Order: sequence, then C-alpha cells, then structure tokens
Amino acid sequence: MKKITPNRIIAGDCIKILSDLDEPIADLIFADPPFNIGYKYDIYKDRKEYDEYYQWTHDWMQACTEKALKPEGSFWIAIGDEYAAEVRIIGNSLGLHLRNWVIWHYTFGQATKRKFARSHTHLFYWVKDPKNFTFRDKAVRILSDRQWPYKDKRANEDGKVPDDVWSEFPRLCGTFGEREGWHGCQMPESILARIIRTCTDPGHTVLDPFAGSGTTLTVAKKTDRKYVGIELSKAYTRNIRKRLAGVRPLGDVEGERKRWPSEHICELQVLYAETRVPTDVLHKNISLLEIFVRKFNWRIEETGYAYAYSVEEVWNRLERLRKAAKLPKVRTLADEPAKKAVRPL
Ligand SMILES: C[S@@+](CC[C@H](N)C(=O)[O-])C[C@H]1O[C@@H](n2cnc3c(N)ncnc32)[C@H](O)[C@@H]1O
Repeated sequence: MKKITPNRIIAGDCIKILSDLDEPIADLIFADPPFNIGYKYDIYKDRKEYDEYYQWTHDWMQACTEKALKPEGSFWIAIGDEYAAEVRIIGNSLGLHLRNWVIWHYTFGQATKRKFARSHTHLFYWVKDPKNFTFRDKAVRILSDRQWPYKDKRANEDGKVPDDVWSEFPRLCGTFGEREGWHGCQMPESILARIIRTCTDPGHTVLDPFAGSGTTLTVAKKTDRKYVGIELSKAYTRNIRKRLAGVRPLGDVEGERKRWPSEHICELQVLYAETRVPTDVLHKNISLLEIFVRKFNWRIEETGYAYAYSVEEVWNRLERLRKAAKLPKVRTLADEPAKKAVRPL
C-alpha cells in the first residue's frame, strides 16, 4: 500500500504498512504500544526477549518517524517504566527532538504490599523540526493558581499551559461509562483530547499505529480531525469500526439549546476536571466562571459548532451535574488560602 486515505482503520502490522508509504501522512502520531509486560491481547504476545523488543521498538519508531510523520509533525509515545529509557534513546537516535517528557499520574493504581504502588505512565512528546510544529496553547490553557486560589491581580486571564505532570485523568476502571469492555488497555479520551487539541488544527490527520480500542481515532473524529488507525487484531479492528460509527464530531451534533447534546456534556465534565475549580468557587466568582465558559465555547466552536453557550446555560448545566453527582471531585472552597497568605513570586 503506497497511499493511505484518511478516516480509515487498517488491520495489520504497522511496521509493514507504514514502511510501504511513499509520502508522509500524519500531522500527529500517538503510539501506545504493548509495554512487554506480559499483558494479554487477543493475538499479540506481550513477552519478548529484551533484544527482540528493543529492535521491534526501534523498527516501529523508525517507520513512524521516517515514513509516516510529516516534517512539521508531532510524535507522542506512551510507555511504562520498563522501557522508557530505551524509547528515549531510540528517539534521539532517529533525530527526534524531545519537547516534553510528561508523566501521566493516574489514580486507581494497583495496590501493593512490598513496594510503592505504580501510578504513572511516561508520555514522550517529540517533534521532527524543533522550529516548526503546531502547539496551540490556547486550546489547553487551564486556570492558574494565581487566578485561583490566590486571586492575584497579575494573573494572565487566559490561564496557564498545564504542567508536565498530568494528574487530572484517572485510569479507566471497569466501572467507568467510557470503557468499551473488550480491550484491557483503553486510554481515557481526555488525555488524547489534550494532546490532539494542542498538536493539531481541525482537519489535520492523526495516526495511531497501535489503535487498540480506537481511543485516539474516536477523539480525532470528535474534535474534527482526520484519522488513520492500524491494529494487528482483526477482532479489535471490527470493534473499533463499531465504536467509531457511534461517534459524532462535537460540531455536528443537533444543537438543541435546551437539551444539551451528550457530547457537549462530556466535554463540560472534562473541562471541569482539568480546570480543578469547584462549583462553589465558580458560583462566587463570576469572572472565573466567564473564563471557564469562554474556554468551553472555544473547544466546541473550533469544531464548527455555530452556537456559543451563555454563562447561565453553562452554570445551570454544571449545577445539574453536581446535584446528580456527575462531576469529578476537585479541590473545595476550603482550599482557598487565608487573606494574609503568602503570594507566589
Ligand atoms: C496498549 S494497546 C493500545 C491501546 C489504545 N491506546 C487504546 O486506548 O485503546 C496496544 C495495541 O497494539 C496492537 N498491536 C501489537 N502489535 C502491533 C503491530 N505490529 N501493529 C499494529 N498493532 C499492533 C495490540 O493488538 C494492542 O491492541
């Protein structure tokens, strides 16, 4: 296969498929390979000898970098502790430029007795060209501590770009509504949304060479990006197609003002988790609420939705979600510092 048209999922080996490309297709690659820790997949065997796994990692990273990634593209890789150092070194050897080494700190790690519980995954963020890449800070800015709790007048009203330790995205447990149930390694959509919104514009193409349950492709479709997915397992591939068939881009939903589209409600919950300012604070502080609403509308509008929610509509919806216990736990009003607290420099 020399060309891959976008919005496709291909069943097969990503190394073979990508090595055959005659021109790059991806503005962003997100790869979450098997970690070589003996995980159970339906056909892939996740227990290789060290040298074999190292070479395999090198080969798929090379195919992604040299065959699939556009010159101005970004390349993200999720990997566990076992091979993080190796992935970092291979990235260097392929001439990639590391922009961030993000730690995804998740809650719901597995309990341990004889050592500290693992509660993180590494997320490497590389670009091909350190001077030319897409980084849309506006898409992901969150309220800064200066805005709240410190209420510092010097705060930038657009908030701040998040730190490189991400703690606001819990791992998907079996009971989470988002969970598809047929793939054990499903990533939360909110992580992919942050990455996709930051590193691509609407209309760009996102490639996932290890599509798994199809999370990356789902979020790409929701946020009005094109997608290409590759997955070794034919059964998973069939399930991904079904998952994608049920996904609507945020901008395509029938915009009934009184009954919010479920996609917009999800987006509101995600933004609330990322913002980490509780409803009682938003209620007391209209300027924070206005910033929150602006950020929310920005996310929806960039996908072509032609209606901006009012502050009142957003507030009412947040209240309904809070009363129904459908908002994630964030800090509380009690976290506000006393009046004479020391301000940050
Ligand atoms: C960790 S999972 C990806 C999970 C995905 N990020 C999600 O959120 O659902 C890795 C996937 O890679 C697939 N895989 C393994 N080797 C592959 C290869 N050579 N080409 C394409 N897919 C492969 C496995 O079948 C598995 O579904």
